[in-house]
Amino acid sequence: MKDVVDQLASEKSEHVEKLIEWLKIPSVSTDSSLKGEVRRAGQWIEEELSSAGFETRLDDTDGHPICLAQWTGAEGAPTLLIYGHYDVQPPEPLDLWRHGAFEPTLEGDDLVARGATDDKGQALALVRGVCGVLRSRGSLPINVKFVIEGEEEIGSPNLTGYLEAHKDELSADVALIADCSQFGPGMPAITVGLKGLVYLEIHLQGPNRDLHSGSFGGAVENPANALTRILGSLRDDKGHITIPGFYDKVRDLTDAERAAIRELNFDEEGFRADLEVPVVHGEEGYSTLERKWARPTLDINGLLSGWTGEGAKTVLPAHASAKMSMRLVPDQDPDEIADLVVQHLKSICPETCTIDVHCHHGAKPVLVEQNSPWLDATSRAVEKGFGKAPVMIREGGSIPVVSDLKSTLGMDTILLGLGLPDDNAHSPNEKFHLPDYQKGIETMAWLLDEMASV
Ligand code: BES
Ligand code: ZN
Repeated sequence: MKDVVDQLASEKSEHVEKLIEWLKIPSVSTDSSLKGEVRRAGQWIEEELSSAGFETRLDDTDGHPICLAQWTGAEGAPTLLIYGHYDVQPPEPLDLWRHGAFEPTLEGDDLVARGATDDKGQALALVRGVCGVLRSRGSLPINVKFVIEGEEEIGSPNLTGYLEAHKDELSADVALIADCSQFGPGMPAITVGLKGLVYLEIHLQGPNRDLHSGSFGGAVENPANALTRILGSLRDDKGHITIPGFYDKVRDLTDAERAAIRELNFDEEGFRADLEVPVVHGEEGYSTLERKWARPTLDINGLLSGWTGEGAKTVLPAHASAKMSMRLVPDQDPDEIADLVVQHLKSICPETCTIDVHCHHGAKPVLVEQNSPWLDATSRAVEKGFGKAPVMIREGGSIPVVSDLKSTLGMDTILLGLGLPDDNAHSPNEKFHLPDYQKGIETMAWLLDEMASV
């Protein structure tokens, strides 16, 4: 494989040019006005794979299409299913970007654009690694299938059905996803745990119209006041979530797991200083990494009520709403937690308002099988590609497909992180460190060989 890796190393600028092309397509899955652009990003990756020799399709769903690509010429060899997503988060707030979010810009070794790390850059690293081998050799050492979807950032609503409907076609020995981070610069990592998610939208209705806050204030409930009382009561001053039953199924960290996390020597002061917060904050009794990786959390993601324009308006708003999410850990179940929380919210809503709660997407928490020859093969490939063996970490983010791959296709997943913790995923000025893009491409080539000998 050394010859192919050398070849891949000599094609650096082409890898970057291709990524820039893809990043220029504003494939924001949550923005219905961009439906055509999302599709175009799916077509782009389909073309990339088919031009290298993959058999490809762009399958329509009720939402955005799924790109399926297969090369199955390695009879008797293992089969790897690679998942990625070509949709991205909305770029707002636009004024905080140093350049246009969809005008990829080189800043030193970083490529800055929405989707640079999450997930176009990471997904394309795997695609270009595999395609490079196929182009150079005319064949692959193992069978490879790609599923690259356009709805991950909105909770993959059509993917479970798709996996179910294409069970046979998608069968493989193991799945691989690069949609995570390294532990830090020069510290490659394999992620062995992801959090789950429940995302709710809460509406409180007060009077039937906005009112003068002098004439009516104090005599009629203000739904913004009521909503903030409700939200404020959901966590106590120890950072503990107060919803009855919320922790019932939380699997506690074992002493060995806590020791392994401590051994990673997390730079907490660097973390704090980078974010410019006065102190770190979270559930009492747990370290920052434990809070980030293995404890459930509850966060308000958006608040809307009353006058938010310029200047002051003395108004008593008719309604108030909040978007709120809970990140879950094993063995919490998103449906059970959603029911529990909705019931609790309704029970504490004062009779002065009416409450309506809508559940958006969810995801199940996952812990990856660590006793696996595929994981060992990946570690060896990362060591060759990055020059350093990976550490095992967990992440606080969610990737809905991982639990579905297990429950629908019976498949374990390997979570490779090519990004960096400060890549600004979902934030302005998202970036991808191009030397890591290149290392990811080369790691993928090594990985094909490593998996062939499992
Ligand atoms: N790449 C992330 C998942 C991730 C985030 C992994 C942080 C590791 C660290 C993924 O694209 C993502 O953002 N997922 C969503 C899922 C949700 C919409 C169901 C998330 O975690 O918010
Ligand atoms: Zn994301």
